[in-house]
Amino acid sequence: MTGAAGYIGSHTALELLSAGHDVVSFDNYANSSPASLARVARLTGKAAEIVEGDLRDAPALERLLGNGAYDAVVHFAGLKAVGESVEKPLLYYDNNVSGSANLLRAMQAGGCRKLVFSSSATVYGAPERCPITESFPLSAVNPYGRTKLIIEDICRDLAASEPGWNIALLRYFNPVGAHESGEIGEDPSGIPNNLMPFVMQTAVGKHDSVKVFGTDYPTPDGTGIRDYIHVVDLAKAHSAALERIDSFKGAEPVNLGTGKGRSVLEVLAAASKAVGREIPRTLSPRRPGDAAECWADPSRAKEKLGWTAERDLDAMCRDHWRWQSKNPSGYR
Ligand code: UD1
Repeated sequence: MTGAAGYIGSHTALELLSAGHDVVSFDNYANSSPASLARVARLTGKAAEIVEGDLRDAPALERLLGNGAYDAVVHFAGLKAVGESVEKPLLYYDNNVSGSANLLRAMQAGGCRKLVFSSSATVYGAPERCPITESFPLSAVNPYGRTKLIIEDICRDLAASEPGWNIALLRYFNPVGAHESGEIGEDPSGIPNNLMPFVMQTAVGKHDSVKVFGTDYPTPDGTGIRDYIHVVDLAKAHSAALERIDSFKGAEPVNLGTGKGRSVLEVLAAASKAVGREIPRTLSPRRPGDAAECWADPSRAKEKLGWTAERDLDAMCRDHWRWQSKNPSGYR
């Protein structure tokens, strides 16, 4: 598992270890900490094998995967800040795209052709309507999004060039929440760009108020609508994808969302309820590049994976808040 120490990686590692799998973590901790995996080991009573390494180090990947000992690779590692990707596109292409090409080359050399890839709803660009199905046109609106799209394209080209690849391209909508123990969760470095971590950091007093980006969208309350999905549901979807990876012929995409769109004001209301007091907000102009609505048609996930999201927005906020209040400074 690349990026196993990160937010979605650590929750998926917990899920896989609990299901009896052996997990080897490959992570450079660029945006995470090995502390998350130590907590996963404590929670499951079973430790992942830890390898510290960087996807840009192709020989390290070849040494790791060269022994043919792996059934499958789950690939989370990558940079994911949209703004930073605009300022430092080469950093993003190098880490995300070249790193993924190195990984695929090492898998090919080691004879492992089963991959679960951490893609994103960002590959739908500015969607024309909702709900979004996997057959919608793909495009990128920033360098980060383009790296996800290019990696998907590389997977499709590779699978077309050579039989035997089974690749699940899992397109996440908006992951939020935390494990119900409150021991692992999202630990963004710097000021978070995403709504839920910003809301929860505001609740612990790290920010004065949440800016509501845009109140004049053509939506029922005027604020942006997204498909928030509990990270534990997301982790379970990875477990299901691994169990059924042989049914992925070549590279096939699957949306991971709940199929329910929620507005920024609905998130603030649910978060205020979970926290037990009103979270301060400031009505603000739109953030450039944001779509009014983005939510999934999750029916292919049900067909292909036998999986549906089970946790609702209240559970997402309750669990995110438990993590945030127990760990106001994350893993530090
Ligand atoms: C963002 C990224 C997207 C990435 C995804 C997951 C942008 C433009 N898009 O998506 O590429 O795949 O995160 O990491 O950065 N909002 C506020 N106030 C805030 C923050 C957000 O009102 O302080 C609103 C946004 O306008 C949006 C919703 O909350 O309507 C969700 O925002 P966010 O969590 O940043 O996710 P996305 O914009 O969906």
